Amino acid sequence: MTNSLPKYKLYIDSEFIEHASKEYIASDNPFTGQPWCLIPQGTIEDTDRAVQAAQKAFKSGEWPRLNASQRGELLNNLANLMQQNASELGEVEVRDNGKLFIEMKAQVIYAASILRYYAGLADKIEGAVIPSDKDALIYTRYEPLGVCAAIVPWNSPIICAVFKIAPALSAGNTVIIKPSEYTSASILELMKLVGKAGFPKGVINVVTGFGKDVGAALVAHPLVKKLSFTGSSQTGAAIYSDAAKSIKHVGLELGGKSPNIVFEDANLDNAIKGAVAGIYAASGQTCIAGSRLLVQSSIHDEFVERLKEFAQHATMGDPMDIKTNIGPVTNQPQLEKILRYIDIAKEEGAKTVIGGGKATRPECGCGWFVEPTIFTEVDNNMRIAQEEVFGPVLSVIPFKDEENALKIANDVEFGLAAGLWTENIRRAVKLSSQLEAGTVWVNTYRAISYTTPFGGYKKSGIG
Ligand code: NAI
Ligand code: MG
Repeated sequence: MTNSLPKYKLYIDSEFIEHASKEYIASDNPFTGQPWCLIPQGTIEDTDRAVQAAQKAFKSGEWPRLNASQRGELLNNLANLMQQNASELGEVEVRDNGKLFIEMKAQVIYAASILRYYAGLADKIEGAVIPSDKDALIYTRYEPLGVCAAIVPWNSPIICAVFKIAPALSAGNTVIIKPSEYTSASILELMKLVGKAGFPKGVINVVTGFGKDVGAALVAHPLVKKLSFTGSSQTGAAIYSDAAKSIKHVGLELGGKSPNIVFEDANLDNAIKGAVAGIYAASGQTCIAGSRLLVQSSIHDEFVERLKEFAQHATMGDPMDIKTNIGPVTNQPQLEKILRYIDIAKEEGAKTVIGGGKATRPECGCGWFVEPTIFTEVDNNMRIAQEEVFGPVLSVIPFKDEENALKIANDVEFGLAAGLWTENIRRAVKLSSQLEAGTVWVNTYRAISYTTPFGGYKKSGIG
């Protein structure tokens, strides 16, 4: 049955080519629960071919002869093509990861802005002239590393890949993208535009397949000089240690268990919207999800009641429909993982306020949906408060005062993001510096920008 599905090809040396194994991975549509296309199951052999092409492009192709402004022009060309094709690319992302079309289309357009930002930066990478204590002229210059690999997860494939390749290309490197085996199609579609944008042969390559095959081969390959990885902390740790064998540069963007902290003096209407968007956007499948909601005890019951009221009206269903608020989760293992964590929370004694299981609403059909879930009576030591669920599951934890909130917020192995809801500027500024989080939002949530650094404390990553 799967044989009749559209088959994708690898993109190596600026051509769509057959892969060595002839094996395919079926890519599923989370809304129907059915496969919709076939992705090449790449091997070590395919990976080596891509790395050799990227190395050749870096050393002797047209690419190193371009000046920095010309590199910038190519990035701008790609940005323009992405903008023109944002609906088509967004639609492919939705078919593969089930997120809302509105968000995926906006992400493609935003990815074009990221490219433009780095296009403008290409001819502004300056070194320095350094005062010398010798009789010498001393200066520094930045040089590209060579072949860089981008290992990308399934939650937001295009924007995540672009966040990695845009700076690498701007600085003159060549790249290999390894998409997630669950969501490879949109990145392969994007390669059609790379060809049109005029990039020289071999500058951007894509090898699809499993992490243990293609991913591991990139990590081990001696010609790959830098790895940029987004995904689970567990896989990130394994990559970090394996990459040490060949002394690679490594950037890791890993998990989170971010606190969203609501004080009694907050604008509660806004805080409720921020809490809901923080956890239910993308069905909770984002590294920055505000999965721990810390609420001051004095307003706890009222806030939970209003949150419940608001969350209950969320519509679920077809992610292409603009009226849908919450779409399916991206893959079956993820669905099972979320449901397992819901069971764990119940066993640990958390109280289910809403949701707490698989969604069986008629509009969810055979898709992989989880009911938006709120747990109260959560203790910060419970697994539901400490481990990344990556689903629409919110743990509400009460706190007494500022000091208590800070202690709970920081008492976790992750440190990617945090939200603060307060009208007190002194408190906002003070806590922003005391929270162990790469990004702290005040009276907003989940706003990221290419103009701003993004990273985390502790097990949320490095670089
Ligand atoms: P993962 O971290 O295993 O996979 C991410 C990427 O790494 C994929 O492209 C995968 O093929 C690749 N990969 C896997 N093993 C590899 C290896 N040994 N060497 C090189 N590359 C390898 O994530 P997975 O299994 O898809 O999802 C598991 C959990 O990870 C999720 O339930 C979620 O909690 C978390 N996750 C977090 C993300 C984030 O943005 N922080 C994104 C995706 C998943
Ligand atoms: Mg899929």
